[in-house]
Amino acid sequence: MGKELIAEIISWYEGDAGMLIPMMQDLQAEHGYLPAEQLRNLSKMLEVPLSRIYQVATFYASFRLTPKGQHEVTLCMGTVCYLKGAPRISEVICEEYEIKPGSTTTDKLFTLQAVNCVGACALAPVMIIDGKYYDGVTPESALKMISELTLKEEVAEQEAGT
Ligand code: FES
Repeated sequence: MGKELIAEIISWYEGDAGMLIPMMQDLQAEHGYLPAEQLRNLSKMLEVPLSRIYQVATFYASFRLTPKGQHEVTLCMGTVCYLKGAPRISEVICEEYEIKPGSTTTDKLFTLQAVNCVGACALAPVMIIDGKYYDGVTPESALKMISELTLKEEVAEQEAGT
């Protein structure tokens, strides 16, 4: 499913390059993210410069260029969280797992997202793991919570294997 899928998506919009965004949304719905090879196919078949496609993909926060991890770790970088140390939390996570905000660890354990105020400023700094809010997070507690995700996955794998 490579070029066929792109051809099909393009046909849904009668090849109208003005419908690039919905086409990219459909592509993402299919894969969970926007694979680079598929973006190249889209660029060629729709005759839209690849640079334009990447501009769109990086402008809208809803588009993803990497696959999602098994867990979603979201760090609030809103003003209050920022002032209470969120940048340092982000830094230690990125260093420890060799990732950047918006990307996924190579073992696909988790995706790190940085977002603006999540509306819980009194609890800053706030981190959300798979939809659950954690307050007063420190670099140490953030790393501990993430390492617990690794443990959970290992236990789940062992149980699946027995
Ligand atoms: S700034 Fe983080 S919750 Fe408001």
